[in-house]
Amino acid sequence: MTTEQAPAIHVQGIEKSFKDLHVLRGVDFDVTPGTIFALLGSNGAGKTTLVRILSTLLRADAGTATVHGYDVAARPGDVRESISLTGQFAAVDEILTGRENLVLVARLRHLPDPGAVADDLLARFSLTDAGGRRAGTYSGGMRRRLDIAMSLIGNPPIIFLDEPTTGLDPQARIEVWQTVKQLAQGGTTVLLTTQYLDEAEQLADRIAILHKGTIIQNGTLAELKALLPPAKVEYVEKQPSLEDVFLTLVGEPDPAEQTTETSAAAAAGKESR
Ligand SMILES: Nc1ncnc2c1ncn2[C@@H]1O[C@H](COP(=O)(O)OP(=O)(O)O)[C@@H](O)[C@H]1O
Ligand SMILES: [Mg+2]
Repeated sequence: MTTEQAPAIHVQGIEKSFKDLHVLRGVDFDVTPGTIFALLGSNGAGKTTLVRILSTLLRADAGTATVHGYDVAARPGDVRESISLTGQFAAVDEILTGRENLVLVARLRHLPDPGAVADDLLARFSLTDAGGRRAGTYSGGMRRRLDIAMSLIGNPPIIFLDEPTTGLDPQARIEVWQTVKQLAQGGTTVLLTTQYLDEAEQLADRIAILHKGTIIQNGTLAELKALLPPAKVEYVEKQPSLEDVFLTLVGEPDPAEQTTETSAAAAAGKESR
């Protein structure tokens, strides 16, 4: 548990309200460099709000956060140079080829030899063969991989992935998971948000559950599973799944609290199973 290393991301007492909607009510966690940290929460829990604060797009009302050692409020420029952000909706230009998308971003970042940067990333993301094709013809998984590749231009040490696989089919999700694992193996710190329990279970070194504005649990998968006694299934002792842990901690969904948006998301979630 003891890590002497300075955290890549340090979040302490972060609060944020939108008018009288108190979304974040004192969020605390640290992310160890080179690890994958999953922020798990239902639709509307405040995951995107927190990612926007950490990526300097939004100011917190209270609390402090540092990213790569820089305070997000005092040193936003340094934070932006240390991170990349991939949002829930792919930022790929469909008219351009995959390679042209990458060259464009490398030019915008004033990197020398944008073509070489593009070719290197196409190779790393298994997109070399598709590089000359218009991105509009790509599958969902290829497009999301291209999006992540675009966000890596300039080699940021920390990457934020906000719901990287929402809306993807199972095969594409696995492709993106492999990409994310490779990033962390290469030393990049990954903070990802997800509402999918299996995604957190598959990818994360640590999982934090954001619920009603605070982190109600933060641990490794094994630590979270140890919170519940093993469930008895006939003669076989069965470990609780992360879903059991999550629903016990968060409580079953309250129908009165469900907006049309969350019921639609719940229905979409059911369909994908
Ligand atoms: N700019 C905003 N103005 C008003 N309310 C907002 C704004 N951004 C987010 N919210 C609200 O804050 C809550 C958390 O949103 P969000 O951070 O997007 O949740 P998540 O990403 O976990 O689904 C939601 O109820 C959302 O409607
Ligand atoms: Mg969100």
